[in-house]
Amino acid sequence: MSVNIPRGTQDILPGTVEKWQHLERIATDICRNYQYKEIRTPIFEHTELFQRGVGDTTDIVQKEMYTFTDRGGRSLTLRPEGTAAVVRSFVENKMFGDPNQPVKLYYKGPMFRYERPQSGRYRQFVQFGVEAIGSEDPAIDAEVIALVMDIYRTAGLRKIQLVVNSLGDTESRVAHREALIQHFQPRIGEFCEDCQSRLEKNPMRILDCKKDRDHELMKSAPSILDYLNEYSRTYFEKVQQYLSALDIEFVVDPTLVRGLDYYNHTAFEIMSQAEGFGAITTLCGGGRYNGLVSQMGGPDVPGIGFAFSMERFLAAMEAESIEWEETNRLDCYIASLGDEARDYTVKLVHDLRKAGMKAERDYQNRKMKAQFKAADRLQAKFVAILGEDELKENKITLKDMETGEQQEVMLEHFVDTLQKKMEEK
Ligand code: HAM
Repeated sequence: MSVNIPRGTQDILPGTVEKWQHLERIATDICRNYQYKEIRTPIFEHTELFQRGVGDTTDIVQKEMYTFTDRGGRSLTLRPEGTAAVVRSFVENKMFGDPNQPVKLYYKGPMFRYERPQSGRYRQFVQFGVEAIGSEDPAIDAEVIALVMDIYRTAGLRKIQLVVNSLGDTESRVAHREALIQHFQPRIGEFCEDCQSRLEKNPMRILDCKKDRDHELMKSAPSILDYLNEYSRTYFEKVQQYLSALDIEFVVDPTLVRGLDYYNHTAFEIMSQAEGFGAITTLCGGGRYNGLVSQMGGPDVPGIGFAFSMERFLAAMEAESIEWEETNRLDCYIASLGDEARDYTVKLVHDLRKAGMKAERDYQNRKMKAQFKAADRLQAKFVAILGEDELKENKITLKDMETGEQQEVMLEHFVDTLQKKMEEK
């Protein structure tokens, strides 16, 4: 009996892994330039963290969590996202006491959501995210957005669109909430059960409902932007001014509410507009969460961040047909003939690797012709040939695969000679 991979997960095989590494490298390098430091938190957390952090009226908490009881009777959950855990760690490790504020962190790792798998939607996916905790300067909102746009642009993406909105502060939200209840209440019977229970608990969640998204009341729903108080409106204007100053194009969409409860003020998403990208176009989502740290038992410290999945990043690269050069070409393949020569290459390949070169030899006892084919497949820049006669004379033949040039080298000078040739390339 064979066992298959679980639904909604995927193996990332050699050949594709290099693409992931390439994009991860871009993202990490840019985070470093912007002075963000990496944080690693556990894959599972106490279930309560997400119930409180993400919000118990959200789809994530209500329907999508991988929750289990461990042998000690605790309820644990495989993390569906990174923000709640980073904030937990910020509080637990008293990072609010760090003299460098805001605390700027980035993370990458697998997240788990029990969603209906389809193109771009997995049950296990890898998020790359950033959190800047400890500042309520609209400039940090612009910085966080600039950072992710920089990652996408550096990778080569062109067909992307930034959408921003403001969800306001608590006062603005209370006013908007009342307006939403009045708007939906008379006809709430026409909505799904989830929406009915959300009407009193969290009416803004109705705007994010996947089932009722085409209901006519959705389009005419009161816009949060009409309910922003002075502070929230000015804050949002300032964020937009900064974005324009950074030459970052954006559109304002008052219907953008995001699927997690912790947001206020700035909310944003980045969409792919590439043809053939698929039905789900959101590449990245983020926003400000000013009440989350205090909700997690810390001081009243504001925060903002984003996350995108590597899977959708890669899909966007493919949809825009962006190629990149494979940098892992082999420096030297050592081909050999005869048992003694084969034995000798065990140490030779090791010496090259110790000298920092990418080297390989044959492990299948193949004929010379097949060894050359293997070298070709690995795109070897050089092939070194060691036959019995050569070994007797302490020599090895070095062939430059790009020019076809061939030369004999004394074995004792082999590593140095090759290293010099590599430097000249
Ligand atoms: P989110 O919108 O739930 O936000 O997810 C962020 C991103 O994760 C999405 O835009 C998408 O790229 C990716 N994603 C989500 N679900 C899936 C899935 N099932 N398969 C593949 N990719 C997926 C958050 O998670 C927030 N923690 C973001 C944030 C950080 N806000 C502030 N800081």
